[in-house]
Amino acid sequence: TGAFTFDPGFMSTAACKSSITYIDGDKGELMYRGYPIEQLAVNCDYLETCYLLKHGELPSKAQYDDFTKTVREHTMVHEQLTRLYQGFRRDAHPMAILVGMVGSLSAYYQDSLDISNPEHRTIAAMRLIAKMPTITAMAYKYTIGEPFMYPRNDLDYSSNFLHMMFATPCEKYEPNPVLARALDRILILHADHEQNASTSTVRLSGSSGANPFACIAAGIACLWGPAHGGANEACLVMLDDIMKQGGVEKIGEFIAQVKDKNSSVKLMGFGHRVYKNYDPRAKLMRETCHEVLNELGLQDDPMFKLAMALEKIALEDEYFVSRKLYPNVDFYSGIVQKAMGIPVSLFTGIFAMARTIGWIAQWNEMIGDPEQKIGRPRQLYTGAPRRDVKPMAFR
Ligand code: CMC
Repeated sequence: TGAFTFDPGFMSTAACKSSITYIDGDKGELMYRGYPIEQLAVNCDYLETCYLLKHGELPSKAQYDDFTKTVREHTMVHEQLTRLYQGFRRDAHPMAILVGMVGSLSAYYQDSLDISNPEHRTIAAMRLIAKMPTITAMAYKYTIGEPFMYPRNDLDYSSNFLHMMFATPCEKYEPNPVLARALDRILILHADHEQNASTSTVRLSGSSGANPFACIAAGIACLWGPAHGGANEACLVMLDDIMKQGGVEKIGEFIAQVKDKNSSVKLMGFGHRVYKNYDPRAKLMRETCHEVLNELGLQDDPMFKLAMALEKIALEDEYFVSRKLYPNVDFYSGIVQKAMGIPVSLFTGIFAMARTIGWIAQWNEMIGDPEQKIGRPRQLYTGAPRRDVKPMAFR
């Protein structure tokens, strides 16, 4: 066996030192580089937040202008890559497409793969930040059979994404600023979250010296799972199911199912490994949810009402209270995105788009850490002791 500490799920193991993001789960605090998420969400846009996560400080006006200019220079994807989409089935899940497309960037941008070269690392990072919205919107356009829309560099990051999602070559589309700001907030709130499963995946992949595009593709694959980034999609599917069964009146039955020891049904969008008081992102997302529904005249949206009723009942129920289960960011982000016209299957893709900067910042920090070694967990072996192979005739 061996004298190793058994810590499945890394409940008590710090895998690295990091100066990027701080979470106090008991107090419900989240900070990027020391700045509380509540202040960043109100005072900064997503690209400012990207700069902060990547460089450690908020940008001056000149630094911000320079950063956004570089992002704009890289929003297009290699024309050959646009053809790669054609190989996918039209009904492919956008996350399946994203894993493939982002991994394939290492085939198209071979001048940014040398991880020992800081210039390569910078250009790879800027390409990923700039191209993720393009690649994600293209995945959507492909699945609905509409032509790809080229990026519009006169628009801000989030408005440009909405343009690539909803414009068509024959229809002019001006992104609604309230919706663009809401999307920007979703991106800020999802930008980093210290050593979560997908970030740890990126770090572990990167620890072998793999190139940044391959590492981010690994992060996207991990994020897809319903216990992680897939939760926003799973939450909407859950709300939809309850709606179909009769809506608010069926909440009692649904909660009873969740509490049943023999059932594996979970209240999606509730609970968190670290936040045991409340998720500060959920509070901000709830606000945004109100703003967006008001803007679109959807205050009486039955699904939002159902979510509110479900939240209220769960917050008063002994099962949830005793286990310290509170709504997490995904409980509201799905409702906001749905109201904006973003299809449910793309929710996790938008999470991936937002988290790309976190993955990059963490990957960069790891590469520059002199204490960094290849990640190599050990195990407690529980298999057969040494034995001899019998020829097949004797088995
Ligand atoms: N609904 C019902 N029961 C739950 C839930 C839930 N959403 N979450 C946890 N529990 C129960 C769990 O069954 C266990 O009960 P018991 O002690 O009787 O066995 C207890 O609460 C402790 O749960 P756990 O599974 O040990 O907690 P964890 O820290 O391992 O899991 C989690 C955290 C996020 C995976 C889990 O809460 C969950 O699956 N939530 C639903 C999925 C979700 O919303 N995920 C998004 C997380 S936020 C976005 C992100 O950062 O990726």
